[in-house]
Amino acid sequence: MKEIKTIGVLTSGGDAPGMNAAIRAVTRSAIFEGWKVYGIYRGYEGLINGDIKEFTSESVSNTIQRGGTILKTARSQEFMTEDGRVKAYENIKKFGIDALIIIGGNGSLSGAQILAKEYDIPCIGLPGTIDNDLYGTDSTIGYDTALNTIVECVDKIRDTATSHDRIFFIEVMGRDAGFLTQNSAIAAGAEAAIIPEDKTDIDQLEQFISRGFRKSKNSSIVLVSESPKDGGAMHYAERMRNEHPEYDVRVTILGHLQRGGTPTAYDRILASRMGVAAIEALNEGQRNVMIGIKNDQIVYVPFSRAIKIDKPIDRELIHVLGVLSI
Ligand code: F6P
Repeated sequence: MKEIKTIGVLTSGGDAPGMNAAIRAVTRSAIFEGWKVYGIYRGYEGLINGDIKEFTSESVSNTIQRGGTILKTARSQEFMTEDGRVKAYENIKKFGIDALIIIGGNGSLSGAQILAKEYDIPCIGLPGTIDNDLYGTDSTIGYDTALNTIVECVDKIRDTATSHDRIFFIEVMGRDAGFLTQNSAIAAGAEAAIIPEDKTDIDQLEQFISRGFRKSKNSSIVLVSESPKDGGAMHYAERMRNEHPEYDVRVTILGHLQRGGTPTAYDRILASRMGVAAIEALNEGQRNVMIGIKNDQIVYVPFSRAIKIDKPIDRELIHVLGVLSI
């Protein structure tokens, strides 16, 4: 196995709060080992275009508290092609990069897996996505911050919903996963959550709401996972309006504000631990694994498992929300 002296680090896919803390931890722990570090800009695009700069310890100063990613990010179409990956490999050779640390979600780790397979480049992944949809880790970098952002927004919407006796359908990100929706629904005391893992029937939803209205509630909050296929919150609001014109229904789509903001202490610590663990993993001879956290312990998850296996939603959460929303 070739000795590692130089690494490259990149962020790819949707940005997530805490990515900077991860870049910082990777950079500083690699320098601690005596290695050279290159920051690769705009994810795989930067690898293809040679948008690569040497990082020192100072390059990552004053970044732990910042949202977004100082390395910028992209969803590279060119990297999906063989030609794109040839160019990427040429730059890996040109800069003498012995291993790559990839911080991103499902698509980003899939890219790493392909590169590792085609060119035998040691890759270590860090789960960086607000969606929390990677198998083998209890949490991903950015998830906790996004969750807190959503809860703060829903609390505010609750004020106006109550003042006007309105039902709000609030759309939450998460791609194909309902972790953000389900947990923010519990934390914000929502009346119901509609998640992709458990398609709530509209009649059941109505039952929840009218039960709440009949009792003491004068407003309702329903959190809905984004769903380009089903139409998300707009779709449910429209049905509610048609079938119950007596209710005053409004929709809020939280959108990209869920991705921004200063990372929580939890995300900063998680990213710092994972960044240090990534360098230790390389030192131990680990290859092509994602760093995960399970029961507060760092674990290594092979890319094939992290990417391919669907991470199940905890059914207990669905039960808890059901019980508490009566
Ligand atoms: O994966 C993170 C995420 O924010 C998803 O929750 C969302 O579906 C998607 O990215 C949005 O992507 P974009 O920023 O490219 O619109």
